[in-house]
This record gives sequence, C-alpha cells and structure tokens, in this order.
Amino acid sequence: MTARDRVPRPLESLRSQRWFASEDIRGFAHRQRTQQMGMRREEFMGKPVIAILNTWSDVSPCHAHLRDRAEAVKRGVWQAGGYPIELPCLSVGEVMVKPTTMLYRNFLAMEAEEQLRSHPVDGCVLLGGCDKSTPGLLMGAISMDLPTIFCPAGPMSSGRWRGHVTGAGTHTKKYWNDLQTGKISRDDWIDLESRMTRSNGTCNTMGTASTMTSIVDAMGLTRTGASSVPATDSGHPRLASWCGSRAVEMVWEDLKPSDILTPASLRNGLATYMALGGSTNAAIHLAAMARRAGLGLTLEDMDAAAREIPVLANLFPSGEYLMEDFYFAGGLPALLARLGDRIDRSATTIEGRTLGDAMAGAECYDDDVIRPMENPVIPLSAGRTLVLLRGNLAPDGAIMKTSAADAARLRHSGPALVFEDPGDMARRINAPDLDVTEDTVLVLRNSGPVGGPGMPEWGNLPIPTKLLKAGVTDMVRISDGRMSGTHYGTCILHVSPEAAVGGPLALLQTGDTVVLDAEAGRLDMDVPDAELDRRRAAWQRPASPYTRSFTALYQRHVSQAHEGCDFDFLEGTDPVPEPPIY
Ligand code: FES
Ligand code: MG
Repeated sequence: MTARDRVPRPLESLRSQRWFASEDIRGFAHRQRTQQMGMRREEFMGKPVIAILNTWSDVSPCHAHLRDRAEAVKRGVWQAGGYPIELPCLSVGEVMVKPTTMLYRNFLAMEAEEQLRSHPVDGCVLLGGCDKSTPGLLMGAISMDLPTIFCPAGPMSSGRWRGHVTGAGTHTKKYWNDLQTGKISRDDWIDLESRMTRSNGTCNTMGTASTMTSIVDAMGLTRTGASSVPATDSGHPRLASWCGSRAVEMVWEDLKPSDILTPASLRNGLATYMALGGSTNAAIHLAAMARRAGLGLTLEDMDAAAREIPVLANLFPSGEYLMEDFYFAGGLPALLARLGDRIDRSATTIEGRTLGDAMAGAECYDDDVIRPMENPVIPLSAGRTLVLLRGNLAPDGAIMKTSAADAARLRHSGPALVFEDPGDMARRINAPDLDVTEDTVLVLRNSGPVGGPGMPEWGNLPIPTKLLKAGVTDMVRISDGRMSGTHYGTCILHVSPEAAVGGPLALLQTGDTVVLDAEAGRLDMDVPDAELDRRRAAWQRPASPYTRSFTALYQRHVSQAHEGCDFDFLEGTDPVPEPPIY
C-alpha cells in the first residue's frame, strides 16, 4: 500500500486545530488575528496549514526568485484546499555571509525546527538550495517530522565568456590564476565580473548546492527530478505550485520524513552523491541529516559507496558541462536510471509512491553528459568522489575528492609548510623568499568547526604566486577546513579531530615530512611518537575571542566534521513536547 492509499487522517488530528478549533479565549484570538489580516473564516478554518519556509533575501542571488516562488507554492496550497503561511528563514547565501555560511547552518536548522514547532503548522514546503540552506532546512524539518517537501531553488542558467563556458566558482578560480600569471588583463577580469553569472539560481556547476539538492532528490524528499529544473525555466514555478498542492495531500496521508528516510533512501543518496562527483561538503551534511533521522552513517560507508560508483555526471569541477546540460540530458532521473540496481527502487518518495514508479521511463538523451557505467567520466582507478584517509595526522578521518585532483600527486611525500590561520597564510604565501617547491605540502590549521569557527572553505589553499608563474597548477594541501564544491585540486580536507581541539594537526611543524597514500587511505606525518608526545604536552588550546554570541554557543556545542558538525543538543531523535497553548 502506498501513502496515497492511506485513509485520510481526521481533521481533529491536525496540529493547527489546536490553535484554530479550540473554543477557549485563545482559540478566539487565533481566529480573530487571522481575520485581522483580511482572511475570511472559511479560507482557513478546517484546512491543513502549510508553512512555506522561505530563505529568500536581498543578498542571496541564488534565492532571488524565491519571493515569487513562494507565491506559486501558495497557489498550489489554495488549489488543494490548504491554507498557506509564509515564514521567512535565514537565507545563508554563500559568498556574502562571513566567516562562512557553515557557521549558520545549524542556526537555520534550529530556526526551521522552531518555526514549525511554535506555529500552527501541519506540513511544510522548504524553499532553498544555496549550499547550507538545503541541509539546514531539512535537518530542522527532519527533527520536527511533519509532512515536508523540499522545493529546490534550481540552478542558474549556463554562462559563457568570449566563447568559453564559465561555471560559477570553478572558473572564478581559473581566471583568478590567469590574472595572477598575466594570461588575462585587469580589464578582462572586470568584464568577466558582470558576465559569469547570468541569472538567479544556485551555482550551475556540481558544487555543494546541486550536490545536496540532487542527493535529497534521490532520497525522495522532493518530486523526483526537481533538483535539475533550472531556476529560470517556466517549469520551476509549476514545480513550486505542485509542491504546495502535494504538501496538502501529504498532510492528509500523514506522510512524514520518517517514512521517507530509511537505510534504503540513504543508500540511494550516497550512490547519487558518488555518481555526481559531488562536493566534499556533502559528507558533513549527510552525516548530520542521517543522525537527525536516527540513521547511522560513517565516513567508511561513504568511502565504500565511492569505491563502487564512478563519476557519471560530466559536470564541473570533475567534468566539463553545466547543470543546464544535465537537465537537457534527462536530469537526475536519467542519472538514477544509469545507476541500475545500485538504486533501491522500492524506497518511498514524497510523491507517495516508490522511487521506481517516480522515475519510470527516465531516459538519457546525451551519453556524454550523463555517462553509462561502462564509460565513466573518470574510471574508479583514476579518481573517486570521496576518499577517506586515516593516519596519525587524522585519527578520526579526513577526506579528499580524487576525481578533482592531480592523479600524479595521490601518492606523495614532502615537507610541510604550516600556516597557523588564514591571516598567517595571506601574509606569507606570496612572499618571493618563501621556502616552497611544488613538492611542499601546504598546511592550514585552525580552520575547523571550532577553530574557524564554522569550518570555512579555506581548504583550497592558493598556490604561491611564484610557483603559479613557474607553471605549477596543483599541490598537496591539507586543512581542517572545507573546500567549495566548485573547486578542484589535491586538497585533503576535514582533518578530524581539528587542530583547535588538540587534534594531531596542531602538532605538525614546518619541515616535518607528510606522507599521503590516497589508494591506501593513509595520511601520516613522519614524526616519532615520543616527539609527538612532547609536542602534545606543550600544546595549549588557543583562547577564543568569542565569549558571548551565537558563535560562543557554536564553539561549545559543535561536533567534529566526521560527525556532521551538528550541535550536541540537536542530534538524535528524542521527542520534544508540543508547545502548550494556554
Ligand atoms: Fe549559492 Fe553557489 S553561491 S549555490
Ligand atoms: Mg559553494
């Protein structure tokens, strides 16, 4: 029996009825105040209330169209006999938010959960898509466990500059390096600024945004294929309207995230992650989401999936196309079809049917953009979406994306050049007398969840200018921070435990030999244990300048990267009492 066959739940069982149907003075106030906004009694009484959690803001170009989309969602809710209420939520637009949106992902997760809990809400549509907004909204909604649809913002249109394809993020870095080495002029650089990103919508590369929206799509949390619909396509407002209508049906069916998120849907998400050549950031967000759903997910699980499934989506930064090409090639359903029996088609989706039914008839229309298993973008032997590393530098793990790295550097041994923080790095890295060669291992510490704070995307350390000018394009780089999903390079990320809490990365010194063996999954420093013990005894935890504020709370409660960087008091599935209404 599918969710669509369920007997509709009785009206009295809806949460919103506690607000609107009660005969006491509070019930009067709730009805009175709703009518104060011009609503007729019959427009909201006896109807499922659908919250639209909207992450629109004036500083998030990725979400600039979500104001309009909220109207389309409302249209769908009315159409299906519900009552829509729009609740603004933190926008967490990448790029503008400092030090990093990751610092505020948990803030959004808390906000989403508490918005749903404190208001008369029966179900919700989540409007987001820029990197942290997807996991942030969903972590909160998973914990609240009301009927939920995620409506992805959609990728921006493809970009071109002087005949060349430009992908958001990926090509910014490329042209920046070209500017440093004189391949393009300052005037070219200014011209590029206005031409690279042509429309609203999330990054058009396989960065964190499309990685996360595609994964949650495969996990059944939106209409199958929704993550591939371009932000500017007329199909996008139609999708939003559909989400509104479907959310109302889901309330009657009582179809909740806990019905959707199962070990099978998680495996589907992992398989999709790997076939996309997705962002390293997903490793953190998936761990956090899984823990909220009461599902175990370790870095070993992710590494195992990556060993089986090669990169099939030929998208930047691992490949050479953009999200619009992916959409026209058949989008996510085509990729799922390519994955064959690695996708569990019996998993339930928010459509109230199986993923197999939802993706039935999916076809690929461009074999170069979405490759068959026999002809991957990168064979497993040459590069994977995720490689787990362990060793005396990262006892709890570190990860790298070898599909976006220089294959020649995946077994490497070289002297460390350690930067204490990004300020130290900015001061020294381009000094003409810096003692560095292309074999040096660049290290940045104090960029983890506690140290950053918020684990900023500083892990794609810049190549020193003098090496760039000598033609060096990649080096082995290590940090306890993250890297933008749109970037590439031999970057070892998420070293856990991080330096700021006393992880071994804190003990590494410039000149120590670092040994990387990606195939063997090893990351070590060649320093005798006795010497490490001596350094550990002398180590002092850096004082935090944050004695108050959200950041202080964050530093006290955030977990390490391999655990998902959630707050200790938000993880798990313990029930939270419904708010009393008196
Ligand atoms: Fe928003 Fe890339 S900056 S998705
Ligand atoms: Mg990003």
